[in-house]
Amino acid sequence: MAETLNGLKRTIMCGDVTETSIDKKITVMGWVQRKRNLGGLIFVDLRDKEGILQIVFGEEINKGAFEKADTLRSEYCIAVTGMVVKRESPNETMKTGMVELKGEELKILSESETPPIYIKDDLDASENIRLKYRYLDLRRLDMQKIFKVRHKTAKAIRDYLDENLFLEVETPILNKSTPEGARDYLVPSRNYPGMFYALPQSPQLFKQLLMVSGFDKYFQIAKCFRDEDLRANRQPEFTQVDMEMSFVEEDDVIALSEGLIKKIFKDILDYDVQVPIKRMTYKEAMEKYGSDKPDLRFGMEIQDISNIAARTEFGVFKGALENGGSVRAIRVPGAASMGRKDIDRLGEFVKTYKAKGLAWITIKDEGIKSPIAKFMSEDVMNEIITKMEAEKGDAIFIVADKNKTVFAALGALRLELARKLEILKDNKEFNFVWITEFPLLAYDEEEQRYTAEHHPFTMPMDEDIQYLESDPGRVRAKAYDIVLNGEELGGGSIRIHDTKLQERMFKVLGFTQEKAWERFGFLMEAFKFGPPPHGGLAFGFDRMIMFLCNTDNIKDVIAFPKNQNAYCPMSEAPNVVDDKQLEELSIKTVKKDKESSEE
Ligand code: AMO
Ligand code: AMP
Repeated sequence: MAETLNGLKRTIMCGDVTETSIDKKITVMGWVQRKRNLGGLIFVDLRDKEGILQIVFGEEINKGAFEKADTLRSEYCIAVTGMVVKRESPNETMKTGMVELKGEELKILSESETPPIYIKDDLDASENIRLKYRYLDLRRLDMQKIFKVRHKTAKAIRDYLDENLFLEVETPILNKSTPEGARDYLVPSRNYPGMFYALPQSPQLFKQLLMVSGFDKYFQIAKCFRDEDLRANRQPEFTQVDMEMSFVEEDDVIALSEGLIKKIFKDILDYDVQVPIKRMTYKEAMEKYGSDKPDLRFGMEIQDISNIAARTEFGVFKGALENGGSVRAIRVPGAASMGRKDIDRLGEFVKTYKAKGLAWITIKDEGIKSPIAKFMSEDVMNEIITKMEAEKGDAIFIVADKNKTVFAALGALRLELARKLEILKDNKEFNFVWITEFPLLAYDEEEQRYTAEHHPFTMPMDEDIQYLESDPGRVRAKAYDIVLNGEELGGGSIRIHDTKLQERMFKVLGFTQEKAWERFGFLMEAFKFGPPPHGGLAFGFDRMIMFLCNTDNIKDVIAFPKNQNAYCPMSEAPNVVDDKQLEELSIKTVKKDKESSEE
């Protein structure tokens, strides 16, 4: 039966009981991690959020408590009062390992059924079970540590931005659609049958409006919602550290963000981030790393060998060059020893990035091996090797195609090989880089029109505005992403604050005047009234915590995350609602049977 506290007060947390508590009477409260009955003595490990404390119950200490302790089982919630003593056999690996508590009084505050997951740090339960019993999963001290980091990081952010005169302002969750490029989560309106709110993909439009209001510097630790395909670093509902500033240019936003990053890594990990953080243009990132979020912790840069490839007899190379493409390669140290099967698998791997094949050269003790050796003279082969600065033991991997495909394939191959060869094993560095000068627009082959690379309010670079209509593809934007170890940690831009330029931008994007006003009229209306030059940035807060806690799974850093199918195994959301609720919303659902949904 559950006992009540009845006036009993906790005096200290389990994890805080150390030698300074010896000979003191204390009361602790928590959950039974484990119980061992050694005949005359019962040992209980008691857990609270600060740690684990050993308690010993004995007939000689208190007979009543001893007998009650014998009924304890894992995860019972209890309170224990007694004297702290020095332990006879200390456990140096535990913070509380030098002492133990003599259990004189024991209250069983509540019993527990056998938990479906064993609450310990190196847990091996399936993800589904962990999410279904998330509240138990969160009892693990490893998880509690993550949420302390999350809390402390949010506090460091608030302190820093407060010192820099930012104001935290909340913006609406029930919104009109924001243009961040993902699918919206929609909420039906009761008052306006057939109409919907959209949950914000980000507070983008509202933070720009706050600049029109003269708030000058805004931030928000904001929930954002995006209905997109989930990956290890994406959740449908995630958190941004969202910021916007008036009267600023790119360097101002970047400097402010660097100060914030520096403070967070210092406060949380005591790690010194060197500022200013290096910068790289989008063009350089694509050409060298085949990615706009390059991992700079290792080399293996992509090199253009088109000039040499033109002098081979290999039809594939020639064809790619004739079609305006290129032939590029990476050198992989130590990869010459890879087996034929492994290399063939890499060939399959690059095909998932639309490359038609993968040519390779290995430089072994016994000589050079390559399926394309037959298409070139020894001199040309040596020229490739010299250009790639390849040495004995290295392998060279080559892709020929249109540039977009070459970059995607070699960029992904570079990462895949680093993983395979464990190049980053035991690497503890945080390698930051700003990627700048993004293209303003991307051509959508399917829709046959330009779309905004970032969002439609991004300011073009001054010198490129002239090409907005004549050559939209070459216009670069005042946009920047902060990349850490090959992951996009945040991104932002300077915004257009000129209505005329904004109208030109919408036109290039193929929005009619009407359509633009229908979607973003309130912003354009506001911009009639003296909008200041402004810009900002949003960090992925969850991703930041992933780095600070050294986990590669975003679900670890969100208290109640969704699974890979955007479903919550614990609350079973999403779920059906009452017919009455639907009726009030004027909504009828249509059952999709398998056949029709596959059409
Ligand atoms: P953006 O769309 O680049 O910019 O988002 C900013 C950062 O949010 C994180 N992020 C995510 N994290 C987890 N799950 C997701 N599904 C997810 N999607 C994005 C990333 C990303 O860098 N309004 C602009 C910012 C601005 O221009 O100021 C915006 O939302 O770390
Ligand atoms: P083959 O003469 O067909 O054996 O091709 C020689 C090598 O060229 C094989 O290893 C192919 O994988 C490779 N290859 C085919 N297409 C391409 C391409 N587009 N880029 C690079 N290598 C290719």
